[in-house]
Amino acid sequence: MAAHIVTLPGDGIGPEIMAPTLELLNAVGEFDFEEHVFGGASIDAHGTALTEEVLDACRRADAVLLGAVGGPKWDTTDPHAPRPEAGLLGLRKGLGLYANLRPVKPLPALYGASPLRRERIEGTDLLVVRELTGGIYFGEKTRTASSASDVCSYTTAEIERIARTAFKAARSRVSSVDKANVLETSRLWREVVSELHAREFPHIQLEHVLVDNAAMQLIGSPRHFEVILTENMFGDILSDEAAMLTGSIGLLPSASLGGDGPAGSGGAGVFEPVHGSAPDIAGQGVANPLAMFLSAAMLLRHGLGLESEATAVESAVEGALEAGLRTPDLGGDAGTAQATQAVLENLD
Ligand code: IPM
Ligand code: MG
Repeated sequence: MAAHIVTLPGDGIGPEIMAPTLELLNAVGEFDFEEHVFGGASIDAHGTALTEEVLDACRRADAVLLGAVGGPKWDTTDPHAPRPEAGLLGLRKGLGLYANLRPVKPLPALYGASPLRRERIEGTDLLVVRELTGGIYFGEKTRTASSASDVCSYTTAEIERIARTAFKAARSRVSSVDKANVLETSRLWREVVSELHAREFPHIQLEHVLVDNAAMQLIGSPRHFEVILTENMFGDILSDEAAMLTGSIGLLPSASLGGDGPAGSGGAGVFEPVHGSAPDIAGQGVANPLAMFLSAAMLLRHGLGLESEATAVESAVEGALEAGLRTPDLGGDAGTAQATQAVLENLD
């Protein structure tokens, strides 16, 4: 039976990059797609960024492919107004997707596209393993006329499961990033990661890095990192920073996985580009679809276990870039359709 994929195009360039991605997926296999509104589009249709019905559809799916959400239309500082981002957070929480994987591997063809010098980024191949359902994103929030607060909390169980994901993904080294000189959650984080390391992964090298220092090293010596393990908000920030090593955030895919999440959370992972909905270029046909294509590759690999299909997509993207494909974010003028054509032509 064909794998069942729920697609959530979302807002801005989301729908524009989703359509060619389905074309690409259809070129490598047989899937059945079920599309739903999500984010701002869902706020317009239903008054909320994620309906129960859509969450249930995602729970029943084999995998979920997501475009991007948000836009100026829904931007507000009113704490009571619905926000597209709440759909994303609700989806992550609702599906128990605690592990966010963001690989960063600048392609030789694009060394010149990075703001960093070639010799600095050459050979970089790192994976950000970001905790996705805890921390300050999900702690209690308060707001009065003159003050506001966001609580950051973590349990040992939450830390241990994401740390296990990171150690399993590592060949030789894990850099655990925290702010243990200031934050209590970070001190617990450090303790739990060290204990798990000693107990189950002594063959992997473990280092603890303070987040400010990690931000510096990421630019200063990106090759140093293999797996960066970190909590929700630090991972959000560091992954955008790491994206620039590749030259453009338009190239970065991500996978959000659950697995042994809360009972009933289902097994479907969510696969989405790291970039946002880019409202400034939406509707012009110039969005770079490559991060979305690479997210589809992650869906094939991590969501459906289709390794050779995943590799085929990745090689096709690489091949197209080697042959000279450059979208505007990479300094070229290829539009979405041209980029899609170039990748399809490079499929074996
Ligand atoms: C990301 C995004 C989201 C996050 C936003 C849109 C809520 O920046 O996936 O990195 O902060 O997690
Ligand atoms: Mg982010």
